[in-house]
Amino acid sequence: MEKTEVIIKIEKLHKQFGTNVVLNGFDLELHKGENLVVMGKSGSGKSVMIKCIIGLEDYQGGSIKVADKEISELDRKELDELRTDIGFLFQGSALYDSMSVRENLEFPLRRHPKKIGKLDDTTPLVLEALESVGLAHAIDLMPNELSGGMKRRIALARTLILKPTIILYDEPTTGLDPITSKEIILLMQSIQQKYNTSSIIITHDVDCAKAIANRMILLIDGKNYAEGTFESLQAATDPKIKAFFK
Ligand SMILES: Nc1ncnc2c1ncn2[C@@H]1O[C@H](COP(=O)(O)OP(=O)(O)OP(=O)(O)O)[C@@H](O)[C@H]1O
Ligand SMILES: [Mg+2]
Repeated sequence: MEKTEVIIKIEKLHKQFGTNVVLNGFDLELHKGENLVVMGKSGSGKSVMIKCIIGLEDYQGGSIKVADKEISELDRKELDELRTDIGFLFQGSALYDSMSVRENLEFPLRRHPKKIGKLDDTTPLVLEALESVGLAHAIDLMPNELSGGMKRRIALARTLILKPTIILYDEPTTGLDPITSKEIILLMQSIQQKYNTSSIIITHDVDCAKAIANRMILLIDGKNYAEGTFESLQAATDPKIKAFFK
């Protein structure tokens, strides 16, 4: 078998809030260029896990290595630098309502001036990112003028503008109708192809998982309970696994 490069390696991750143990020995390996889907029921710790990866939450045990660097050992500056390489699509898109689409997309450029270099005019980069989600015409709109699906695509464009090599998607299709969900899924696939990104996709949408997963992990009881392709997990007889595919 061809040896694949490991981009993110999580080992025996432990995370709790007070007495609430959320992750308890969770392991994950993200390989270069793959779409890894993580499914788990509501409250199982999916968002917390992804926040640990980008250093928005600390962890009490285990290890998270991104490009061989231990996240808990990075200082603020190193963490900030790493975050320019990891795009994070928050659950619910989270655009800044008081900023136009253009300003929303300029925001990461201003925050991380080193990544792109000094720019006199950000318009070409903003337009390129908007074009990759099919919304160049929306550049001067305000978020309240956008539909839910458009907001999600703009949030994705804002994630893409720093040209991350890793993208973490937290529930990218939740709250969207089936047709719009399909559009977002197609977009995620084209991003993977165009930029050769490696992605973790958190979802409870079985259709999304089926369409996008090269590999899947089921997060149950704080652990990676099961791993495999969509087809292999769907064929499992374990009732805990079957419950996801009903
Ligand atoms: N900042 C926090 N402080 C205290 N507890 C938290 C915090 N963030 C998350 N939790 C708890 O951690 C657990 C996991 O939350 P998390 O948001 O990761 O769930 P999830 O799997 O993403 O669920 P959903 O599918 O509903 O988004 C929950 O019990 C939640 O209450
Ligand atoms: Mg969540």
